[in-house]
Amino acid sequence: MYSEKVMEHFRNPRNVGEIPDADGIGEVGNPVCGDMMTFYIKVKDGVLTDVKFKTFGCGAAIAVSSMVSELAKGKTIEEALQITNDQVARELGGLPPNKLHCSNLGADALHAAIADYLRKQKEKDKKSAECHCPYCHKPLPLGVNFCQPCGVAIALCPKCKKPLPKNAEICPECGVNINS
Ligand code: FES
Repeated sequence: MYSEKVMEHFRNPRNVGEIPDADGIGEVGNPVCGDMMTFYIKVKDGVLTDVKFKTFGCGAAIAVSSMVSELAKGKTIEEALQITNDQVARELGGLPPNKLHCSNLGADALHAAIADYLRKQKEKDKKSAECHCPYCHKPLPLGVNFCQPCGVAIALCPKCKKPLPKNAEICPECGVNINS
C-alpha cells in the first residue's frame, strides 16, 4: 500500500524533535483522523538552518513530515514557501489515495511555521523601530524620558509619548504641534 520511499521515511524519520528556541512554530491538524503535525524552524539570514517536527499520526503523516523537513532544510524562506503538498507526495513516490488528503499536510505546517516566524519578525522590527534616543540613537522604551546610556533627559511628545528630536516643534511621529 505504501511506496518504498514512504516506508523508508516512516522507519527512519529525519529531523524528528522540537527546537526549544524555535524562530517559528506551525501546527496543522486533521480533524477527520486526529493526526497532528507541528513544525519548528530556525532561521538565519533568510535561510532555514534547522527544521524539526513532531507528528502524532499514521505512517504516511510521519513520512510526509520527514520529507518536508528534508526538502526545507537549507532553503531560503522564498524557496521553502514554494514547497507544495503535491510535490511532497511526488517525492515520496506517491501516497495511497485514501491518505492523500488526510496525511499530506506537511507543507501546510511548514508554511504555518514560516508565517509565524514572519509575524514575529514584524513585531520585533516594529518594537525596535518604536523609540530611540535622539542623541545616542539607542532604543528607548515608550514613555521613558531619560536615556540611561547617554545620561540625557529627553523631551517626549505629549500625545504619542515618543521622543522628540532636539528643538522640534512638530512631533515627527504623530504630527502634533508641541507648542499649541
Ligand atoms: Fe494519518 Fe489521517 S490517518 S493523516
